Amino acid sequence: MLNQNIVHILGGGSIGQLTACYLRKSNVPVALLASSSTSASRLRDGGSKIFLERNGSSTCLTHPDLNVTSSKSDMSNIEEFPVEVQCCGALEGTGDEMMSYRSPISRLIVATKSTQAVSALQSVRPRLSDACQIVLLQNGVLGVYQEVCNKILQGSPSQSPLSATVVVGSVTHGAYRKGPNHVVHSGMGSIKLARVDPTLPDLMDGKHQRMWDETSSAEPESQDLMNVMLRTPGLAAEMIHSHQAFLTMILQKLAVNCAVNPVTALLGCLNHRYSDSQWGKQMAESVCQELVSIYGVELLGVKSESDLADLVLQVAKRTGENKNSMLQDCEAKRSTEVDYLNGYVVKHATNLGMQAPVNSLLHGLIKAKEETWLTGD
Ligand SMILES: NC(=O)c1ccc[n+]([C@@H]2O[C@H](COP(=O)([O-])OP(=O)(O)OC[C@H]3O[C@@H](n4cnc5c(N)ncnc54)[C@H](OP(=O)(O)O)[C@@H]3O)[C@@H](O)[C@H]2O)c1
Repeated sequence: MLNQNIVHILGGGSIGQLTACYLRKSNVPVALLASSSTSASRLRDGGSKIFLERNGSSTCLTHPDLNVTSSKSDMSNIEEFPVEVQCCGALEGTGDEMMSYRSPISRLIVATKSTQAVSALQSVRPRLSDACQIVLLQNGVLGVYQEVCNKILQGSPSQSPLSATVVVGSVTHGAYRKGPNHVVHSGMGSIKLARVDPTLPDLMDGKHQRMWDETSSAEPESQDLMNVMLRTPGLAAEMIHSHQAFLTMILQKLAVNCAVNPVTALLGCLNHRYSDSQWGKQMAESVCQELVSIYGVELLGVKSESDLADLVLQVAKRTGENKNSMLQDCEAKRSTEVDYLNGYVVKHATNLGMQAPVNSLLHGLIKAKEETWLTGD
């Protein structure tokens, strides 16, 4: 049976599984969209159960149609929730399974890496209903949003445009996978959400404020995806109160990601090495100087370049034991999100007729590192 209220989650990785678990915990029907039939089988392995581990406890998701039950397992605090796994572009399967693979998607959370978001969305584009709601959760959301507007929503000669609602989010939870269907919620954070105007592909455009004005004067709709996420306790989702506050939050996060991630990824070290060292301080200052010259202190929500560098170093210190995602990607020889972080800054600076040599160098070095494992050198 097709469920109109189902929330589809594109990408069954750490954040996708974490989001799925907490939504199920709040009794929201969820379908995880996997990239391939192999990924879908892995997610369904062992009885379609996805384990959520946090604070030493585990929560377990099982296949569709089961109601919430208490488990009789040895672990005293295991819960089970229904979830469904679908395969993105798959047309194999029979009966109800086939129907659900073709069913329209009206509420979609995109939980892939920045580099994967557009191609993943392209693979489900025929299923997106005209007025679908899309939530983007990528670290490099400034660049991802632009691509989604231009390549997915605007349409093409063969596709009509979509009048989707778009919400952009910033995730500060920490999560990683212990196994294909076992996610660990390693750091409690939050998801900051902002509804934006998809007719404006540039998130920096001040006209987005209109969406905040409209949202604050409208009655909240219970089935609205952003409201569903706001009502889900485990996600710790919050709505950002203005466009300016949103930009400040997203640009401060960009500053941390641009200053810390490529450097620790190149050196293969944890964040505390960065925050405790003189070279880390100098690097933070150089990257922040550049960001302030491009975005300005007001948008960045700081008084000076050194305030921003202090903020970067504080975050690196607070997350001292973290192996950030770019380092993890480099160690696993996967593509990193650098094009959407330092690469995004360089592009933005170029569009403004400016230069960003420090970000450009960091971007180039990570791309060179990616090339070595692509070419096998
Ligand atoms: N993990 C964290 O702690 C954390 C914290 C804050 C922010 N974030 C951000 O959240 C985003 C997601 O991160 P993550 O850690 O969840 O990444 P991840 O574990 O690598 O998950 C990404 C998932 O997307 C799937 N995917 C790739 N291409 C797809 C496609 N075409 N169709 C459907 N699924 C596809 C991948 O499946 P396959 O494996 O089958 O390719 C993978 O399961 C990133 O932007 C990251 O920076 C993560």
